[in-house]
Amino acid sequence: MKRVGFLLLAVAALAGVAGYMAHASGQSDGGAAPIFVTTIPPGYRDWRLISVAHEAGKNNDIRAILGNDVAIKSYRERTLPYPDGKIIARVAWNYEPSEENNKIFCSFVPSTCGRPQSFVAGPPKNGVQFMVKDAKKYASTGGWGFAEFDDGKPAGEAVLKTCFPCHAAIKARDFVFTRYAP
Ligand code: HEC
Repeated sequence: MKRVGFLLLAVAALAGVAGYMAHASGQSDGGAAPIFVTTIPPGYRDWRLISVAHEAGKNNDIRAILGNDVAIKSYRERTLPYPDGKIIARVAWNYEPSEENNKIFCSFVPSTCGRPQSFVAGPPKNGVQFMVKDAKKYASTGGWGFAEFDDGKPAGEAVLKTCFPCHAAIKARDFVFTRYAP
């Protein structure tokens, strides 16, 4: 009888330790809820192009939306909701006129002189953003983990908290705005 009691105590203590450790490791993710992605997906700059976009106003950038192989395949096959493992990257650069190109245009096509004709990607801007699909892990945000890195550093939780509420507006396309540009 005494021995059973001791065993029970030992099991309870172990369970307590395990529970505490799980809790502690949850907290050590920089305090961020697990809905956010904290590491840059490797090799993203070599991924294939989904589409491009230009944002005006304060953002004033030209952006490329890239996808890993799972992303490209599921776009082409129109698989909705998108499968786990799909990752979409959004890279952006300052949207600016090119003096160099405009000079050439002006000398070959005089009607372009005196105004910017060619706009190109300047320095990187507005960070790099990712959406990582894992229906179980990120269940509370539509199955997507959101991430932003500014100069390689993860954005704070305050920024990341803004992602899902806005992307929720496009629930019908599994929270992804960008369409595949054929
Ligand atoms: C105010 C609304 C809004 C907020 C907030 C927002 N996004 Fe978006 N996001 C968009 C729209 C609209 C697009 C597509 C057009 C564009 O890129 O301008 C987009 C595009 C993207 C894309 C390309 C895939 C897609 O859905 O088209 C990624 C990746 C992305 N956003 C990640 C993020 C992350 C990460 C955050 C938070 C740090 C975030 N977004 C915050 C509206 C928003």
